[in-house]
Amino acid sequence: MSSPSVKGMRDLFGPELDWFQRIEHTAARAFSRHGYREIRTPILEYTEVFKRSVGDSSDIVNKEMYEFLDKGNRSVTMRPENTAGVVRAMVEHKLLGSSDPQLFWYIGPMFRYERMQAGRYRQFWQIGAESFGVASPESDAESLLMLHDFLRELGLKQLVFSINSVGTPESRPAFHAAFRAFFQEREASFCGDCHRRIHENPLRVLDCKVPSCQAALEGHPVITDFLDEGSKRHHDRLKELLTQLAIPFEENPRLVRGLDYYTRTAFELLSSDLGAQSALLGGGRYDGLVKQLGGPDVPAFGWALGLDRLAAVLAKLQGEAKPAAPALLVPLGEAAMARALELARDWWAAGCEVQLETRGGALKKALQTANRTGVKVALILGDGELEQGLVAAKHLETGVQETWRLDEVPSRLKA
Ligand code: HAM
Repeated sequence: MSSPSVKGMRDLFGPELDWFQRIEHTAARAFSRHGYREIRTPILEYTEVFKRSVGDSSDIVNKEMYEFLDKGNRSVTMRPENTAGVVRAMVEHKLLGSSDPQLFWYIGPMFRYERMQAGRYRQFWQIGAESFGVASPESDAESLLMLHDFLRELGLKQLVFSINSVGTPESRPAFHAAFRAFFQEREASFCGDCHRRIHENPLRVLDCKVPSCQAALEGHPVITDFLDEGSKRHHDRLKELLTQLAIPFEENPRLVRGLDYYTRTAFELLSSDLGAQSALLGGGRYDGLVKQLGGPDVPAFGWALGLDRLAAVLAKLQGEAKPAAPALLVPLGEAAMARALELARDWWAAGCEVQLETRGGALKKALQTANRTGVKVALILGDGELEQGLVAAKHLETGVQETWRLDEVPSRLKA
């Protein structure tokens, strides 16, 4: 009996992977234009890397980590996200010693043991970017601009970022006190998890997905009313910059993110194109994390997008990312068969997209395949045509057949 793939983990191929690749290529180009370089970190990290960064009160650390003891009895975890791993690498390789900014982007699989639903997997992919060393709102705006323009380049038009400021660890106790008082007045309406969260980290209550908790939050104290002067100035300036750059945003005072490391700016982008509203991406500023993981006191800003989700949205809005090669070379006779590989090799070298029919023989079968896979023109090469240096070009949409000279095939295919 054959075994299926592990629940929540799937094979990628065909049109879905075509979209992944289109997104990856666009990302690599867009981010290197901004001076970001790629970083690849291991999938496994020691568990404390996530506990000390993502945070003990988060759902990720509490419920969702693929955490196990390795054969040397050390607790390791398959990364549920990559900010912690990137920061760990920055500290380990002492990349943050000088005052130079460090800009990195990454792509790779992440692992969370979550309940399954549309667009939610246990192995999923993220593309992310992290920028270290600059505390200014201009740094937030630069990263958001890169993200915005990258998504526009992929053809996404209705982009409205949700933004908020979660202040600093110093300014938060005042908000916590007001929020706890609010909670106590209506505590019977909140779920068991929220009763735990109000003690561990009251911000997590705002993030609860249970509808009755969201209803009970009506009229809650708003964190932006409790910001320290510096955070308030940062937030106001960022909003000015986004307006100046025509990056659409709306303020969302309930947006706190599910990870503990954020300071000041927090943001997300939701999409309703996946059925239920779900987050396409999220991120923000995390000025204390590098120090918390043993590095120097260096500010940072970053985000990650869900590649599986972005690919699904683009497929829904735009169809297939990549049709089959637009041409199919169908050799029909013995001499033609023998020459076809050489001819196709020349055309490939000239940059043409041509698929080669290697089954030999039946033209009908070849044309049926071509029609099914969206080929535009079948290049039918018989021994007779080959002798005269010609090929029959059959346009599959119209049925019109022409005769092309072999040496003009590359220019005609490109046209
Ligand atoms: P996050 O919001 O936990 O942030 O994840 C970012 C994105 O990953 C989400 O918006 C979503 O699109 C995708 N994602 C998360 N879980 C799943 C899942 N189970 N299945 C499919 N897609 C999923 C972070 O991970 C932070 N490290 C972002 C960041 C970078 N903050 C600063 N720098």
